[in-house]
Amino acid sequence: MIVDSTDRSGAVCASCGASPETKGSPVTYVITLACVDVKDKSCIEECPVDCIYEGERMLYIQPDECVDCGACEPVCPVEAIYYEDDVPEEWTDYTAANAEFFNDLGSPGGAAKLGAQEFDAALIATVPPKEDS
Ligand code: F3S
Ligand code: F3S
Repeated sequence: MIVDSTDRSGAVCASCGASPETKGSPVTYVITLACVDVKDKSCIEECPVDCIYEGERMLYIQPDECVDCGACEPVCPVEAIYYEDDVPEEWTDYTAANAEFFNDLGSPGGAAKLGAQEFDAALIATVPPKEDS
């Protein structure tokens, strides 16, 4: 196991202005396939740092803003949220998808003020629409 940095386990500093690294960044909780076309949004109400952002078909956790509290996970009625290390193998692409959603948005610092976005991570386009039956 390689541990070559001294201490980057803490929360991202909100005032230092350091640019967050997307590659290899400490992604914490991840929203996966079950959220697509469901968007229950119970998770939003639990998140203490407002880092769960709405896309067109699903919601995404901003990996640099998430403080790893775990409050969102149990409230999702479709169990779409996992700790990164616990994401089922078939959905591991969603870890990257959660980060990819923020490629252009960066770290907005709050989902409520940003509002819903009219796009999704590229992976989501491969998901067939879910319809109520
Ligand atoms: Fe999606 Fe579940 Fe949140 S369906 S919006 S992850 S509560
Ligand atoms: Fe929010 Fe991350 Fe906690 S998304 S609810 S800060 S685990």
